[in-house]
Amino acid sequence: MIWIIKFDDLTGQFCNIILDVKNNIMTKVIKHSWAEPYKIKMVEPVFMSTLEHRKEAIKEAGYNTFLLKSKDVYIDLLTDSGTSAMSDRQWAGLMMGDEAYAGSRNFYNLEDVIHEYYGYKHLVPTHQGRGAEHIISQIMIKDGDVLPGNMYFTTTKLHQEMAGGKFIDIIVDEAHDPDSLFLFKGNVNLDKLQEVIDTYGADKIPYVSIATTVNMAGGQPISMQNMKDIRALTAKYGIKVIHDMTRVAENAFMIQQNEEGYADKTVAEITRELCDLTDGATMSAKKDAMVNIGGFLAINDDDIFDEARNMVVIFEGLHTYGGMAGRDMEAMAIGIVESVQDDHMRARVGQVQYLGQQLIDFGVPIVKPVGTHGIFLDAKAFLPHVSQDKFPAQTLAAELYLDSGVRAMERGVVSAGRNKETGEHNYPKLELVRLTIPRRVYTQAHMDVVAESVETVFANRENINGMKMVYEPKYLRFFQAKFEKL
Ligand SMILES: Cc1ncc(COP(=O)(O)O)c(C=O)c1O
Repeated sequence: MIWIIKFDDLTGQFCNIILDVKNNIMTKVIKHSWAEPYKIKMVEPVFMSTLEHRKEAIKEAGYNTFLLKSKDVYIDLLTDSGTSAMSDRQWAGLMMGDEAYAGSRNFYNLEDVIHEYYGYKHLVPTHQGRGAEHIISQIMIKDGDVLPGNMYFTTTKLHQEMAGGKFIDIIVDEAHDPDSLFLFKGNVNLDKLQEVIDTYGADKIPYVSIATTVNMAGGQPISMQNMKDIRALTAKYGIKVIHDMTRVAENAFMIQQNEEGYADKTVAEITRELCDLTDGATMSAKKDAMVNIGGFLAINDDDIFDEARNMVVIFEGLHTYGGMAGRDMEAMAIGIVESVQDDHMRARVGQVQYLGQQLIDFGVPIVKPVGTHGIFLDAKAFLPHVSQDKFPAQTLAAELYLDSGVRAMERGVVSAGRNKETGEHNYPKLELVRLTIPRRVYTQAHMDVVAESVETVFANRENINGMKMVYEPKYLRFFQAKFEKL
C-alpha cells in the first residue's frame, strides 16, 4: 500500500489516497487536509533576485550552493537543519533560559522530556548532532572495528572512520533503486547483517548504526518489524544498537501510516517504541525538534555515560550544557514535545508529499516513494547525458538556483567523497539533488514555485552540461568544494 496526498478535483479538497500498488488500484480515499495546525504571527522578507544577479552569485560561489550567501536565495531548501520556524512557546522558552554555568534548570527540563518521550536513561547535551557522533565514536570504536548500518551519513561515517572504524552498508537493495516503491527503504537486510557478524566476529562490532529515517536514501523510513528483528539478532551476539534519531518522529509517522498494526497508535507512542529497541542515540535536534542549534547523546549504559559525561567537558562544555545556552535547551525540550504531535507531523510530511506529487505528475524523476523531509531529484535520470564524474547532481542544483533562486543541495558523488585506500571518487548508486523542506517555514505557494522551477529546468535539460571540480577540501568536501561549468 502507498499513502499519498493529492488534490481531488471533484471535492476541491486534499485527500489521503491509499493505493494498492500490487494491483495498481486506488482502494480508499479519505477527505483529509494536510493543512498546517498553526497560523503565521511574524514574517521574514526574502530577496526576489534577477537572473543576472543569480548568474554572478552562483559563479562567485564556485557553483556550490553551500557557498551561496543566504541573502541571494529566494526559497532556501538547502537543508531542514536548524532552519525550522520555532513556535511562540519555544520563543517564550528562550526567555526562561537559566544561563548558570552549572546545573541550569533548562538541562533538567530537557532531561525530563528525553526520559518521557524517548525513554533513554542518560543525557549528554552537545552543540549539535556531530558533537554526539564524535563522543560516541571515540568511546565505543577501536582501530579495526566495523560498523554495519542502514546507509552512511556523511558526518556519522567520518567520525566512525576517524575513531578507527569502517562503515559497512547493510541497507536493503531497494534503497539504492530510486524507482522501487518499497515503503520501508530504510530497512536493514538481515542476511547482510548476519554476514558481517560471521565475517568479522561480534567482538569487532561495537554497535549497529541505525538511522531513522535514512537521509541519504531520500528520507526513507525503517519499519518497526525490522527494528525488532535487528534487536533480536544483535541481542543473540551481545551487540549494541545505536540509533541516529535525528528524524525519528518522522519515521514514526510513516510507520503509523504504512505499517500494519500501527494506524491507531500516536506518533509519540511509536517514537518511544522505536527508541526502546535501541541502547542509545545521537540526535541533531536541529531537525525533528525544531531548534536552530543543539543536539545530544542519549545512552542507557552507565559506564558509557560516565565516559561520555567526562569527554563532553573536553570537547563541548560542562555536562549540563554541552555547548548550548540554557535557553537553547529549553526551546529544544518544548520542540521535542511539539515534534511528536500527530497534527504537526501530518502537515509536515503532507507538505513534502504535496511537492513530490506535483513533480511525479510532471514526469520529473524523483526518489519514490516520497520520503519525509524532502524531495530527492534523481540526477542520473534527469541528466542521463552527464556522466557521474562530471557531477550531475551538483550541476543540477546550480541550474535550479539559476532558474529561480531556489537553493537545493547535492547528495551524490561529491558528498560521497573519496575512497580512503585508492583515493578515487566513491561513486554512489544514488546521484541526487535534495530539496529539503524546513518545518513550518514555507507555504503551499512556495511549493508551487519550486515545482514550476524544477519543471522548467527539466524541460531544458538537454542544454545542461556537467562541471569539473577546481577546489577540493580534505574533509566533507561537499561543503566547500568549487566547480567550473564545462
Ligand atoms: C541523519 C543525520 N545525522 C546526523 C546529522 C548531523 O547533525 P548536525 O548537523 O547537527 O551536526 C545530520 C545533519 O544533517 C543528519 O541529517
